[in-house]
Amino acid sequence: MKIITSVKEMNAFADEAHALGKKIGLVPTMGYLHDGHLSLIKKSVSENDVTVVSVFVNPTQFAPNEDFKTYPRDLNRDAALAESVGADAVFHPEPEEMYPDGYHTYISVEKLTEVLCGVSRPTHFRGVTTVVAKLFNIARADRAYFGQKDAQQLAVVRRMVADLNMNIEIVGCPIVRESDGLALSSRNVFLSPDERSQALVLYKSLCTAKGLLEGGERSAARIRAEIERVIKTAPLADIDYIEIVRYDDLTAVETIDCKVLIALAVRFGKTRLIDNIIF
Ligand code: PAJ
Repeated sequence: MKIITSVKEMNAFADEAHALGKKIGLVPTMGYLHDGHLSLIKKSVSENDVTVVSVFVNPTQFAPNEDFKTYPRDLNRDAALAESVGADAVFHPEPEEMYPDGYHTYISVEKLTEVLCGVSRPTHFRGVTTVVAKLFNIARADRAYFGQKDAQQLAVVRRMVADLNMNIEIVGCPIVRESDGLALSSRNVFLSPDERSQALVLYKSLCTAKGLLEGGERSAARIRAEIERVIKTAPLADIDYIEIVRYDDLTAVETIDCKVLIALAVRFGKTRLIDNIIF
């Protein structure tokens, strides 16, 4: 497996693959890989001739008060894990390689980025869409793989690709969870033992919501209230949002009569966790 740090070398690697008629799958990550990331890489390996995993903690998607500096990093471990599931290359540029002096171009998707995580992280998705578009171009990817864990990110990336007529297929992949239900996240390493055990209320509350929906409940307000009640049984949980929105455009739903995304963000100490289900 190759480790590539420059845009030029990444372009050359991709051009060579395309010249041989190969399809390139890209898995964009910020590293500190876990089984959630590995599920995306495995899917790409199974569907493409070449799989590129990008490992880049993208400064433009972090606000000044967020955890850019402390975000966990371990390239050697990531490279070994990516290779173990069949990746062909890891693209690991320095921030200056992606954003050289004089860099001034950003992509902003409107509306979809103004709700859910966009409320408390107003500049986040602009950084995500910008870096993702750059990675698509740099790796010349035919397909790119994203987790449903970041459901809003997936919706925003799909919108960007459609709106800008990008020639790439976006593949969404299911959430991978620990055996006790906690969604895998690179940020889980920041949780204290107490926070880690109380964080189980997230998935528990979503399962409660699913049970209500399966029992015929259609009031978003009542389902939301029940999710809130379950989360509040954890004294360390500080709710950022609990939202029930249309899956397609992330607009609010009162009566559930379409495909919906039930999404939440909750802080445990300094760590902000997100989770969701689709119904
Ligand atoms: P990161 O948080 O490293 O996630 C990389 C990809 O892994 C995302 O598509 C995310 O949805 C997916 N993922 C994370 N946890 C998952 C889980 N438990 N199950 C399934 N998939 C999971 O998301 C980002 O990085 C960045 O915003 C990025 C897209 C790389 C742009 O910088």
